[in-house]
Order: sequence, then structure tokens, then C-alpha cells
Amino acid sequence: MSEKAVGIDAMEIHTGTLRLDLAETYAPAKDDDPGKYTKGLGLFASSFPDVYEDIVTMGANAARRLLERRGLTPADIGRIDVATESSFDNSKPVSTYIAGCLEQVYDEDFHHANKGERKFACISGTQSLDDAYNWIRAGRNRGRKALVVATDTALYERGDPGEATQGAGAVAMLISEDPDLVELSTAQGYGSADETDFLKPNQQFPSVDGKRSVQVYLARMREALMDYESVAGDTHPDDFALVPFHTPFPGMVRKAALLGFRHVARDTEYEDRLAEEIGRQPRREAFDDVGAFQDALSEYTDALAETDVYRDWYAETVEPTLELSRYCGNWYTGSVHVARASGLLEAAEAGRDLAGARLLVGSYGSGAQAEIHHETIQPGWADSIRALAVKDRLRDRYDLSFEEYERIHDAHNHEKETDVDALTTPDGEFVFDGWGRMGERK
Ligand code: HMG
Repeated sequence: MSEKAVGIDAMEIHTGTLRLDLAETYAPAKDDDPGKYTKGLGLFASSFPDVYEDIVTMGANAARRLLERRGLTPADIGRIDVATESSFDNSKPVSTYIAGCLEQVYDEDFHHANKGERKFACISGTQSLDDAYNWIRAGRNRGRKALVVATDTALYERGDPGEATQGAGAVAMLISEDPDLVELSTAQGYGSADETDFLKPNQQFPSVDGKRSVQVYLARMREALMDYESVAGDTHPDDFALVPFHTPFPGMVRKAALLGFRHVARDTEYEDRLAEEIGRQPRREAFDDVGAFQDALSEYTDALAETDVYRDWYAETVEPTLELSRYCGNWYTGSVHVARASGLLEAAEAGRDLAGARLLVGSYGSGAQAEIHHETIQPGWADSIRALAVKDRLRDRYDLSFEEYERIHDAHNHEKETDVDALTTPDGEFVFDGWGRMGERK
């Protein structure tokens, strides 16, 4: 077994090329107060695919830029794992479609790469990372790297409360030995239970019990954190430079971070500082049952949210991970990976020296399962993350009017026959030509 560090060497992000402004465009059309979206959910805009974009083209565009940036060709890649919950083919994995696109721009093909598709709602992006990690740690990679692509069009039925949280985009990650960005930990924790609050049985748009889904997310994350601590040992708030969590919308992470902090701060000096600030006795119990967990949502935890001690911790470790998500919405399988990229990008731009520091990464998928592990930031992290042009790409999106948004939403609705013109012109990227053949270069 290899003793070398294994983790994410580099990543690329491809956003859908259209943008829906939630405060300026969506809220007025719905006759809602913009504050519900910008303050309540913490979202300002969503990404949408134009009519020539889908999960394959977005994934292929992200992967191609990643391979080109690292000077790699198909022969360097030993497996392609695609995570998605927007798949259109129950037999042939999306990775074969993406490989087919990439093969059009290389003289080689991916003939000796193992290709697959992973499904477990949003958490499958992280499960694909695990598969790649295990493959390399088992010494089966023959010096080759793995390509992991998390790609989704996260659309809801129009009128569903989830509509404001939509998004579309792909994250491509290169997994290798001696990675430049982060090393993954062997320590992991899980919280997993059969749940039916968010599901898509043979349907494109999800059936969602939104309020319950929030509680299920919190419960599974709590269990995963406790399971993680059972292998990694008790954690302390200062153990982690950044805490990227699955971000269906930033307000969700605001709730999860508060409970997570409440748990890891127990029995540390933080608890005394908090108690002093709030003017109460410190509470030291762990969340070892659901009742205690529900209690923790009450008064005491609400008071913690207003303390300087908590706000300072949150501003440094959580807030930076939400920056990109505020402007792109939920990308399902890509979401936690966007959060990691966001945190590292903000830290690099702020000149933070994070080599050797840790991330506490919390992934979640409805259905439902949460997973927590840590990652160690590598010496080459700042250059690796600065190579991402994601902020420019988000800024360059075409701004949708509400009427255009409805037409584009219909164009991506599998149950509607539509003939909608593209709103933008692709620029040398893979496009969907309407006949199931992907990857024509324009
Ligand atoms: P809603 O019911 O329309 O919104 O949808 P609300 O009325 O609950 O308001 C949301 C928040 O905004 C509330 O704050 C309001 O108080 C606040 P909170 O009480 O939660 O702290 N608010 C305002 N704030 C300031 N100014 C105002 C104002 N008005 C209201 N004027 C819901 C919310 C989450 C239910 C909806 O967006 C939804 O159904 N989303 C889809 C499901 C989802 O994202 N669930 C998250 C957990 S499950 C998950 O993450 C998995 C997932 O990614 C799928 C997968 O794994 O594949 C979804």
C-alpha cells in the first residue's frame, strides 16, 4: 500500500452561462421581499444552463480545462468517476459521454481507464473522491491519476419552495499522489438513514418536503460529526482553518455551523468565553441523542449565534466557504466542492498562509447520508487554487429577465416540447447539438 499523501491535486469549475438575479428579477416576479432570499437563504443569484449546455458539456468543459492546465492527456488518467443526480441514461454512465467529448480534442482515447457513475444525491461527489482515493491508496493506479467530475442541473418544478435555490454547474477534480491542493484524511464519520424528504423516483424534478429536509440535514451531520470524532478524537474549534459544508443555500450552513460549533466547543476554553459573554453557566454535554440535539436549537444556541466569540470564528472559518455559492445556487453533487474552492480562494486572496492547516469537510446527500472527514492543505495550494477563473466566469454570465428564465426552464424540462433559441454563443467549448451527440467543438 502506498504511504504517499493522496488527495486533490487541482480543480476546475464550469458554471452554467446564464444568471438569474434573485433580488432584482426573481423576488419582484414572485411578489416577495428580496430579503427572504438575500438574508434568509443567503443567496443572491443562480446559475442556469443555456439550451446548448447539459451535465455532459458542463462536465467535459471543466475536465478539459483541468487537463489542459496540468498538461495531461488521456493516457495519464486511469479512471473517470462522474457524480450526478441529473443523469439521463440508466445504463451508460455519464463518464463515457464526457470521455467521448474529451477524445475529440486529443489524439489519444481513454481506452484503459475505468469509468463509472455514482449516485447518492449530493453526497456522491464526495463518494467519487473516496473511490478515487481508495484506488490510489490500494496501489492499483499504475502511476495514473483519477478524474472526478461532479455535474448537475439542479432544477426544481416552478413554484416549488426550492425554486429559489436552483443552480447548474460542474466541478472537475484531479486526484493523485503528492497532490498540490489538499490531502484527504483516512478518518471519516458517517450518519446514514433511509429518508424520503427529497427524492426523484423516475422523475426529473424532485419531490421535496423542504422544512423536513433541513432537519434531516442537521440530524445526519450531527451523527457524522460524532462518528468522525470516534476515530479522529475530540475536535476543537481551532483545529480547522476552514469548514466547507454541503451548501444547498448559505442559510442552511449557517444553521449547521452553529450546531457544529456548539458541539466541538464543549469542554474547551471557548465554552467558558461564550458563557461569560452570554452571562450563563457553560453547557458541556455532547449531542448524544436527538432530544439533546433539538434542545440545542433552542434559546442557548440562539444566544451563542450573537456572541463575538462565535461570530469571529464563523467569519474566519465558514463565511469564506459560502462566497461562491451565494452567486451560483445549489449545484447538488458539486456543492461541497464549490464550498472548498470558495474557502481556499478567499483565503488565498486574503494572503492567509494555510499550508499544513486543516479543513473540516461536511458532505451531505438527501435520502439521506452525511460524511465528515478532514483535509490537510498542501504547500502548493495557493497557486493551484488561484488558477481558477471561476469568479470571472460567474461575472460574465448572461443576466436573465424573468420571462427568459421561464423559457429556459421550460427548455430544460424533459416533459415539454420546446424550441428555444440560445441566449449566448458558445466560445470554443463543448455543446449539446440536440441529437444526443455531445462534444461538437464550435
Ligand atoms: P421557504 O419555505 O420558501 O422559505 O423555503 P422560509 O419561509 O422558510 O424562509 C427561509 C428563511 O428566510 C427563514 O429563515 C425565514 O425566516 C427567512 P430561518 O427561519 O430558516 O432561519 N426570511 C427572511 N429573512 C429576511 N428577510 C425576509 C425574510 N423572509 C423570510 N423578508 C426551504 C425554504 C429551505 C424549505 C426551501 O428553499 C426548499 O424547499 N429548498 C429545497 C430543499 C433544500 O434545499 N433543503 C436543504 C437541506 S436538504 C439538502 O441540502 C439536500 C439537497 O441539496 C438535495 C440533495 O442532496 O440531492 C437539497
